[in-house]
Amino acid sequence: MTSTRTAAIILAAGMGTRMKSRLPKVLHPVAGRPMIGHLLDRLDELAIDRTVVVLGAGAEAVAEAVDPVPTMVQDPALGTADAVMAARGAMADFDGDVLVLFGDTPLLTAATMERMIARRRAGDDPFVVVLGFRPDDPAGYGRLVLDGDGTLEAIVEDREATEEERAITLCSAGIMAFDGRRLFALLDEVDNDNAKGEYYLTDVVAIARGLGYARAVAEVEDEREVMGVNGRAELAVAEAVMQGRLRARAMAEGATLTDPDSVTFCHDTRLGRDVTIGPQVVFGPGVTVADDVEVRAFCHIEGADIASGAVVGPFARLRPGARIGAGAHIGNFVEIKQALIESGAKINHLSYVGDARVGERANVGAGTITCNYDGFFKAHTDIGAGAFIGSNTALVAPVTVGDGAIVGAGSVITRDVPADALALERNEQMHKEGWAARFRARGKAEKEAAQAPRPPSAGHEKES
Ligand code: UD1
Ligand code: CA
Repeated sequence: MTSTRTAAIILAAGMGTRMKSRLPKVLHPVAGRPMIGHLLDRLDELAIDRTVVVLGAGAEAVAEAVDPVPTMVQDPALGTADAVMAARGAMADFDGDVLVLFGDTPLLTAATMERMIARRRAGDDPFVVVLGFRPDDPAGYGRLVLDGDGTLEAIVEDREATEEERAITLCSAGIMAFDGRRLFALLDEVDNDNAKGEYYLTDVVAIARGLGYARAVAEVEDEREVMGVNGRAELAVAEAVMQGRLRARAMAEGATLTDPDSVTFCHDTRLGRDVTIGPQVVFGPGVTVADDVEVRAFCHIEGADIASGAVVGPFARLRPGARIGAGAHIGNFVEIKQALIESGAKINHLSYVGDARVGERANVGAGTITCNYDGFFKAHTDIGAGAFIGSNTALVAPVTVGDGAIVGAGSVITRDVPADALALERNEQMHKEGWAARFRARGKAEKEAAQAPRPPSAGHEKES
């Protein structure tokens, strides 16, 4: 690479009315990350020198979400060229290349931006590189008008296009790379004499041509990469495409997905090698899975770290702060929250373990509940290494079970259990000899008496 620097301006001042949402459009998540966040991540990968986001009035939530990336406000929103102009104050001293991106295209890849920048720096020194694509249905998009040699002459917006121009299949993705030293002077030339009365960024191409500046096109193969998300249906398509990428990445990095299409990843899910993920598993934010872990079908996992060789599920729920140690087993219908489960521990059936530590090789029986909340405060449960908690135990926190202790099934444990002790909290069992047989005999006799035919009624009894 040359020493030329690169900046990015992300346009996000549009109203996004078609989302029908209180949430600004660019904050709607794809794979658990706001759309605009995906663009910022790609720019990070490219080590872009400076980024500015252009917002509409009242978009404080977007400014907060992109912080510390600086924002500029475009008010009123008078078109895409006007939006770039709104960023001028943050770009005045910048003399490198400038990428203009749209905040609602979360699928744009770093590779495509890199190609645009490389083209911008090629020998003919184009003032602008326009990202082009060939959509199945070009309606609504700006068309790229090329001359006989394939040189870009102009971009004509759909509304302004002649019949002949509408037949052009090569469209503008809206995304462009500019020579930043000439950009703002040229934007001054853009007017709003068009169907929408807006300042179109696309007009810079014809203006550049008039000035004798070179123009170039970079094409993307897959139109979905530059898909703009305008409504919820497109949001769902973007989600599906992103999930496809995340699944492919997981498999490329050495995970087995037995039914890839049914696994939902978060943008930040990290999987080690030889991990196996069963069908219908959902990953929320902040999950790290080490090598050789098996996540069986129907698990929901967020904010969790799973160490090597652990087995989770089927039907397990790991909530934020769950740390599952090496070789630990978390079985069906087990919920873990804010708890350290040390290596080799087993919690195999129907349990809730929250605000707790479960020591190495401890065995937590079916139906064990850590009672961690009294309606006001959360309290901690500590289970020592090698302890054995019998089925259906309630551990009323704060409470400690010492190393190697055994808790008898059905106990409600409210006091600390010493190491290697047996704790048993239940009423003594009593037997009444023959009681069940007598009970059945009496019941049978009473039922027979009730079913016997009744004597005829005297007829004059007072009804009650
Ligand atoms: C734009 C392009 C069109 C291209 C299409 C690709 C222009 C004039 N047209 O059309 O050639 O085919 O994208 O999807 O550029 N925005 C602002 N301030 C404004 C107006 C828009 O920040 O005043 C932002 C929007 O938030 C959005 C982006 O710019 O992120 C694009 O605006 P939009 O109105 O969607 O442009 P299109 O009509 O789709
Ligand atoms: Ca659009």
